[in-house]
Amino acid sequence: MKVSIVGAGYVGLVTAACFAEFGHEVLCVEKIPAKLAMLRRGEVPIYEPGLDELVRKHQASGRLRFASEVREGVAHAEVIFLCVGTPQSDDGSADLSQIEGAAREIAQSMSSPKTIVEKSTVPVNTNEWIRKTVHRYKKSGARVRVCSNPEFLREGSALEDFMNPDRIIVGVEGDEDRATFRELYGPLLANGREIIFTNPAEAELIKHAANSFLAMKISYANMLADLCSKTNASVKNVVRGIGLDNRIGTQFLNAGIGYGGSCFPKDVKAFIRIAEEHGADFALLREVEAINGKQRNRFCELVEEVLWINKDKRIAVWGLAFKPNTDDIRESPAIEVVRFLKESGARLTLVDPKAAENFQQLFPESDQVRYTNDAYASARDADALILLTEWEEFRRIDLARLRAEMALPILLDGRNMFDRREVEAAGFEYYGMGT
Ligand SMILES: NC(=O)c1ccc[n+]([C@@H]2O[C@H](COP(=O)([O-])OP(=O)(O)OC[C@H]3O[C@@H](n4cnc5c(N)ncnc54)[C@H](O)[C@@H]3O)[C@@H](O)[C@H]2O)c1
Repeated sequence: MKVSIVGAGYVGLVTAACFAEFGHEVLCVEKIPAKLAMLRRGEVPIYEPGLDELVRKHQASGRLRFASEVREGVAHAEVIFLCVGTPQSDDGSADLSQIEGAAREIAQSMSSPKTIVEKSTVPVNTNEWIRKTVHRYKKSGARVRVCSNPEFLREGSALEDFMNPDRIIVGVEGDEDRATFRELYGPLLANGREIIFTNPAEAELIKHAANSFLAMKISYANMLADLCSKTNASVKNVVRGIGLDNRIGTQFLNAGIGYGGSCFPKDVKAFIRIAEEHGADFALLREVEAINGKQRNRFCELVEEVLWINKDKRIAVWGLAFKPNTDDIRESPAIEVVRFLKESGARLTLVDPKAAENFQQLFPESDQVRYTNDAYASARDADALILLTEWEEFRRIDLARLRAEMALPILLDGRNMFDRREVEAAGFEYYGMGT
């Protein structure tokens, strides 16, 4: 089947490469010339495990091609996926200008029937606006259908998630669309995966509701961590105890410096705004957000309680990405923590296996901020080590060797990644978040 994808970001590129793997002929449209040039050379502009191999495989197979103009995508296929950004506006709502822009471009060049699929995360009823926009701007009488197929992949395990989804949600207008999606996701259906068909508004809502629920679990764990830090309890043991109840589940219950990234913060905010616009009260989600905001401050306070004066202290900072296995630093809690440390005069050596280059755009090298690829070297003569992203390679660190590098064995763990007993046995002073 021929498919066009608009936007070659995390979602668009993964979707394009995986659809090519399913056997479809994919044209992926990207408007940023530098990104497009890299992709055409077979280079992937983002870090996502396995993605560069899959992109190159299907550039070679001829099933994945790249273009600069939406009209080329319109000419290529009847089904066009919108995978453009829906960032946060100043008032917290989703900025839908990239969606509207792409819809208009499709309208202006279409001369045959099209099915536009929202894969971007959008507020409920956006499908109606897309339909209306296309009707307003199209120059031919060709019919348009708008479906919603929200994406649930996680950065860092995006290919794995796309290929093994818990469910595929598709909001459709009618039976014709059902057949289209059964064909599109044929290989996954053959593997026993399920498509849940809804109407487009429900599919749009499912995405915001799912992300907000996961954010709520994290804030719930952080709320518990606050109480645990004031009592004789470790939040790790408490969340394990509740998470083993199948009705609750162990995932997304890690207390720490809070959620970040390009999705949870903006999606929770947008969902609150959507509710407000429709007269529904989402006080629960406002609290989820407030708790998340407090966690970074709590961690900065903890650093001050432990180190007293940050000025001229040498601090190794491990982890800058908003989560492991990605180079994405959008809304990463590390940004605020590093800013605080820098402003309070500390001397920082930052390490991240993939996100350091992006972080340098915000915090260039200076007499206060240095970068290294070597976790042990970052800790050399350090007065403290701060962990902000739980990369696997940090988990596997040799604690005795680390201890030998440091001037003072102080470990502040913003992700509760280390085992207190283990690090204390290795001679460290250990501080976690409610543990
Ligand atoms: N990143 C994630 O983990 C994730 C997961 C699920 C859903 N989402 C949602 O998917 C959407 C995309 O997210 P992302 O992280 O891939 O964003 P991104 O910013 O990485 O990528 C979007 C891309 O679209 C391109 N673009 C915008 N308008 C275009 C146009 N008219 N023509 C061609 N290209 C255009 C941009 O240049 C950019 O490269 C968002 O709505 C996001 O909330 C993201």
